[in-house]
Amino acid sequence: MRRIDGHTRLCGLIGNPVGHTVSPVIHNTLAEREGRNLVYVPFHVGEGQLKKAVEGAFALNALGLNVTVPYKSEVIGCLAEIDGIAEKIGAVNTLVRTGNGYKGYNTDATGLYRAMRSEGIRIEGEEILILGAGGAARAAAFLCVSKGAARIYIMNRTKEKAQKVAEEINGVFGRECAAALHLEDYGKLPPGRKYPAIQATSVGLYPGAEAAVIEDRAFYERIHTGFDLVYRPSCTRFMKLVRDAGGKAYHGLKMLLYQGVEAYELWNGVSVSEEDVLAVYDKMKETMGIEE
Ligand code: ATR
Repeated sequence: MRRIDGHTRLCGLIGNPVGHTVSPVIHNTLAEREGRNLVYVPFHVGEGQLKKAVEGAFALNALGLNVTVPYKSEVIGCLAEIDGIAEKIGAVNTLVRTGNGYKGYNTDATGLYRAMRSEGIRIEGEEILILGAGGAARAAAFLCVSKGAARIYIMNRTKEKAQKVAEEINGVFGRECAAALHLEDYGKLPPGRKYPAIQATSVGLYPGAEAAVIEDRAFYERIHTGFDLVYRPSCTRFMKLVRDAGGKAYHGLKMLLYQGVEAYELWNGVSVSEEDVLAVYDKMKETMGIEE
């Protein structure tokens, strides 16, 4: 047990609800391993209390905050500054203390990037399929284009929503890099190549784990690597379908890991060692009862 004393720094998570979070495990394990005098606690912030909560945290000299559902967009109105990619995505999950307030970042997106890289999945120069057009898909889409994807195909059940995200991305980046497709229209993808795909719909989330957003084997034959943002169960139906069709597949737990690692690095101005990253990953899996 670490000692809490007069120099202990405070970080935490604000959201509603927060009871399910694994973030305290990530940050307190890192602090313990690094011998850093920091504690991380969840804060349940009720409706209408967000602004007061952020101002209060700043007044209490809190070093940093994570932000979760339902406040990732609303919190932008409570910031002193915002990082460029977080601003484009329109969502912030990490607040870093500055002289006159907090600066907002989106480490969900950069965490996804680090997770994909750690699995050897390239984004730069690639054509990438993104399944979904909600908040998570939007973050993945902006991330891919900002990291140099040649082209992305946003595939969604409701094509209009995919169209909107694609138009916005093309406008922001000033090139025709995003196209929208209905999920069932995978036959319209340019032939003769296979793609990496990011599964960013909410389908397959525990307890609805028996479902995948699309079942057709012909679709999965177009995928060489699947990355599911869902991490429970550890082999989702999407991952199974990708593997059955000969591709490689990964779940989203490393994204959750790296969004935390990156927040911790921003708060403390450090670079976490690979050894500590792996130790945190093991601790997360143990706490969450996830096996690989
Ligand atoms: P999140 O913030 O997790 O991205 P969201 O914004 O509610 O959640 O988005 C959910 C995504 O999952 C959407 O792309 C949604 O498709 P629609 O835009 O057509 O609603 C997709 N989704 C949810 N349930 C689905 C289902 N049963 N079949 C296909 N897509 C589904």
